[in-house]
Amino acid sequence: MIAVDGPGSSGKTSVGAAAAARLGLRFCDTGLFYRAVTFAARQLGIGEIDVDRLVALVAQVRLEVDSTGRYAVVTLDGTDITADVIAPDVDAAVSTYARVPELRAALLPRQREIAAEGGVVMAGRDIGTVVLPDADLKVFLDASVEERARRRADERGIAPSSQAAMEILDQLRVRDDIDASRSIAPLRRADDAVTIRTDAVSFAATVDQLVAAIEAVGRAPRPLSGDVPRQSAPTAARLATAGRSGRVARRAAIDPTPIATRITWIIRIASFVIRVIARFFTEVVIEGDVDAIPRSGAVLVAANHASNADPVLIGGFLNGRLGRPMNWMGKRELFDWPVISWLARHGGIHPLDRGAADVEGFRTAMRILDRGNILAVFPEGTRSPDGKLMAAKDGVAVLATRSGALIVPIGVIDSDRLWPRGRRIPVRTPRVTVRIGEPFYLADVLAAADARGTEALAAANARGTEAVAVGDARGTEAPNGSRTQVDGAGRPSSGSRRRSNAAGTDVIMRRIAALLPPRQQGAYGPWQAD
Ligand code: DC
Repeated sequence: MIAVDGPGSSGKTSVGAAAAARLGLRFCDTGLFYRAVTFAARQLGIGEIDVDRLVALVAQVRLEVDSTGRYAVVTLDGTDITADVIAPDVDAAVSTYARVPELRAALLPRQREIAAEGGVVMAGRDIGTVVLPDADLKVFLDASVEERARRRADERGIAPSSQAAMEILDQLRVRDDIDASRSIAPLRRADDAVTIRTDAVSFAATVDQLVAAIEAVGRAPRPLSGDVPRQSAPTAARLATAGRSGRVARRAAIDPTPIATRITWIIRIASFVIRVIARFFTEVVIEGDVDAIPRSGAVLVAANHASNADPVLIGGFLNGRLGRPMNWMGKRELFDWPVISWLARHGGIHPLDRGAADVEGFRTAMRILDRGNILAVFPEGTRSPDGKLMAAKDGVAVLATRSGALIVPIGVIDSDRLWPRGRRIPVRTPRVTVRIGEPFYLADVLAAADARGTEALAAANARGTEAVAVGDARGTEAPNGSRTQVDGAGRPSSGSRRRSNAAGTDVIMRRIAALLPPRQQGAYGPWQAD
């Protein structure tokens, strides 16, 4: 449990969220609770002295965790109010409501509930002092009010010397004052907090500092007896010595699979064996520009999945040529088999629970990319029964968006003939082609498609190119009929994010489809039937 406190616009949220994402921890900005209640109260005309009605609002507010582990969506009675809670009028009023002791008391268990299972970075004003006095690490982020006002103006596109920028500075001063002077849980640095001043430090450097502090906590040895008093020494001192609660360490230990970062002898031998066996059954042809795949940095390889042979051939034939290994997300069941599990662990395969939205698996995937490695994924989620592309899940688009990784599409052709579903061993097949497409950044393609505008979009729609996907984002139906405008419960919550994820998925899948023969283009091809 990591507590990050600090005044408004000190960077708690952006820095905290980035550090959490890098380490695979959840992130919760508790200010969202106060903002949500403030928004609701103002809508209903409930003032700060109307305490009972104010407290009653707490039950209607929910923070929903997204697939990346961030509590990013705010709902009020099931309606998405994420955008409303950062409106200027909420900015101006929230500190007044946040000083109501009964409201703070009602929100306390809600925050502790989120932190209870650990593995969380929680940001606010009183996390280290009141909400999580037992936090494994307490950080106080601080910067001068002028610097914070400048950042906030910058975020909102306001010129630094304008009247609006002056108002932001004034408002921040007032909020600081109210937050720091209230009688209950005032903004205050916990005695055992580590202070990080962010005035003259870049965003990236601040994130690095926080990540390092959290990692130091995670690495510190756990007490042998387990009964070292947890609040016996200031956190900074405890960081340097033993005696951590070990909660972070235990969590890190759960991550069962090391990230493959270099070609080990196991990977080298496995790749060699794969190539020898493959040669017996087929001729594997690698097409496209292998050299266009960077030798360093985050790369997301996205391929169609028609056969068990796909990962074997892609890894076996490309790892050596890339000079670094691919990491894979593999079904969790692989890890139930002793020998296979050992090979998987040492071959850069990481468990993914395919039955549910696997937050842990997603974090592992993010960690692989954040640390600048290659991750290979099958966006369809499972093998296609007939070799044709199936409608894909949005997980890969979310990964691409969150990580900003370069995407390399790969089309594997005729692997379904080499090793059809249900066969125990492969069938002799003249050739299997692994075709590498041109690498691209998802954000670039979406932005370019967006900039082309509606007319180009209509034309592209007719041609069936990736811009169709952006058409989907704007409410026209994609050819594969995948509409994701509302979620299962029919709520508009996070609808636009879902739409843009669906658009991203379509872009990626069309790039893969373009590498496949019509026979295999399935849901993403202009040719629906052979
Ligand atoms: O961090 P923020 O600007 O979103 O927070 C909004 C308000 O909520 C802020 O004025 C103080 C209050 N707040 C609080 O009192 N305690 C917290 N743990 C988080 C926020």
